[in-house]
Amino acid sequence: MTGAGLAAAALAAAVASLSFDTAVADDAIVNPVLGQPDAIAEGRVIYRSRCYICHLGKGGRGPNLFASKLSDEQFLETAINGRRTMPALGTLMTPDEVWAVHAYVKSTDHYE
Ligand code: HEC
Repeated sequence: MTGAGLAAAALAAAVASLSFDTAVADDAIVNPVLGQPDAIAEGRVIYRSRCYICHLGKGGRGPNLFASKLSDEQFLETAINGRRTMPALGTLMTPDEVWAVHAYVKSTDHYE
């Protein structure tokens, strides 16, 4: 009985610390330039030169990035590392450039 009581107490403590850790670890990587006009303008130029060929004005060979449901971190990760037929752009672009494109696609609903 003592053993079971201890186990239950330990389990309760583990569950409590788990939810606490989850709350603390809730600082996923977010785009530091979201909403900044300079980044949006730069991102539009990069989008035209590097993404438009596949993603077009509102989705083409690649999905519509203006309506992407990915988190900031997933967007960055996908652009840098690629995904299936999406090429890895990490050798061509810096993370800051990807953030600029992300700021741009979040600022409007299509390329024009
Ligand atoms: C050669 C064509 C091509 C180019 C160039 C390209 N993409 Fe893609 N992209 C794709 C394809 C195809 C997919 C879908 C991948 C899949 O099916 O998993 C995709 C998917 C993505 C996704 C995932 C979207 C989602 O909502 O799941 C992101 C983010 C993305 N691309 C970002 C970019 C960015 C940013 C650029 C320009 C810097 C770019 N891509 C340039 C073809 C391309």
